[in-house]
Amino acid sequence: MAGGVLVVDVPAGGFHGKVTASVVITCIVAASSGLIFGYDIGISGGVTTMGPFLKKFFPSVQRNAAEAKTNMYCVYDSQALTAFTSSLYIAGLAASLVASRLTATLGRRNSMVFGGCTFFIGAAINGGAANIAMLILGRILLGFGVGFTNQAAPVYLSEVAPPKWRGAFNTGFQFFIGIGVVASNCINYGTAHHNWGWRLSLGLAMVPSAIMTTGALMISDTPSSLVERGKLPEAKLSLLKARGKDSDVEAELAELVKCSEIAKAAGRAPFLTILERQYRPHLVMAIGIPFFQQVTGINIIAFYAPVLFKSVGFGSDSALIAAIILGLVNLGSILVSSFVVDRYGRRFLFIVGGIQMFVCQVAVAGVLAATTGVSGTKHITKGYATLVLVLMCMYAAGFGWSWGPLSWLIPSEIFPMKIRPTGQSISVAVNFGTTFVLSQTFLTMLCHFKYGTFLFYAGWIAAMTGFVALFLPETKGIPLNSMGAVWERHWYWGRFVKEQLHCQGNSH
Ligand code: BGC
Repeated sequence: MAGGVLVVDVPAGGFHGKVTASVVITCIVAASSGLIFGYDIGISGGVTTMGPFLKKFFPSVQRNAAEAKTNMYCVYDSQALTAFTSSLYIAGLAASLVASRLTATLGRRNSMVFGGCTFFIGAAINGGAANIAMLILGRILLGFGVGFTNQAAPVYLSEVAPPKWRGAFNTGFQFFIGIGVVASNCINYGTAHHNWGWRLSLGLAMVPSAIMTTGALMISDTPSSLVERGKLPEAKLSLLKARGKDSDVEAELAELVKCSEIAKAAGRAPFLTILERQYRPHLVMAIGIPFFQQVTGINIIAFYAPVLFKSVGFGSDSALIAAIILGLVNLGSILVSSFVVDRYGRRFLFIVGGIQMFVCQVAVAGVLAATTGVSGTKHITKGYATLVLVLMCMYAAGFGWSWGPLSWLIPSEIFPMKIRPTGQSISVAVNFGTTFVLSQTFLTMLCHFKYGTFLFYAGWIAAMTGFVALFLPETKGIPLNSMGAVWERHWYWGRFVKEQLHCQGNSH
């Protein structure tokens, strides 16, 4: 024992540094779960600007838009319309909390399969919706779907990836979210001019869910999850697949077994265990990171990019194109992140991305204030609208290499095995809960605070960047079961985790 922390026999540098073809394919398949979340993010923003959709389900909003009789920041200010977008998040929140149980007892992979199937049914109902009740029912099922997949997939990726490249592998999840966003924006662009276009946009959500569900059915569960569920031969097989057939996986398997036994011996319900003092830093991060991710204001940009661009004077088509450009920039920056995250570390990306987003939000507020006037009634000129788009692209790039992928990575890598699914659940629930509140209030906020809305988010970005600088230890390259050491060495968190027994020992 070192400093009261359990010692596990992990070789220096951890186990298994190798990247095998099998681990790459498995992780791509698992990461593709992000597709359904991304598809929905993009689709809901787009259909809510489509005339026939508004006419059928939200006629008063359509009248406002057609007559343009209100101040341009307020055209889409409707609680019912916002409820359409955000109902998914409430359902997702509830599902993510249940998901930790399912993920622990039935495995990470089965949670992904379950989530994919639920999403598929929701997409079918939405595509065929005859009234608003069907529309909301469909969205609730979509919410259940992403609640399960967002909880299980990041944990899956962190458990299977070689520690040295865990950041890059886990970033794949956000990358697929980004692909989903761009695909749905393109589809919206193609369907926008047809009366039934919104049906196609919503119904096509069945495609990404079919892709990810089929993929998930073909991969095996993570070694940790199989060990936890007492399936040792399968766990060994899964380890051999991930590390290569010729690898010696006995030591790693023995360590997983040891950690699982300690977890079982502790015997408390995971939602109680996580409240223990020794897990305070973990819990703070599982709540703080997703909360901060949302108050960067990303979804305001993502959901409402078309609405936003239309509100500040772009035509419908150019608003959708602007949303596509934004999505592509975001995608490129996620790729950059995957190359950098294991080299320069998580903290570096958080801080650089934070500064970049802060500057952009302040600048957007400045341009809108100067051009649309205090009342928001003046129309923005084409030149300034383009400047807003450029600034938003720079903002999206900042998010794409920092808070986007890292908010899925950090909660999935900091927890010990016994409470990892619980930690991830809390994190997804906070993510969805915050998204719900923000999306419910954003259009009203935009209507009343106008450009000041962007300053509100800039303030949060400054706060979260300071938070990371002070409180988040660097986790790059550390094997999951040795993560305890990073908290122990931390100037502030050290006092919470010292003298604790858990299976994240600083053994080497
Ligand atoms: C966030 C979503 C966001 C998306 C944008 C995700 O990481 O959790 O709320 O819409 O990134 O690409």
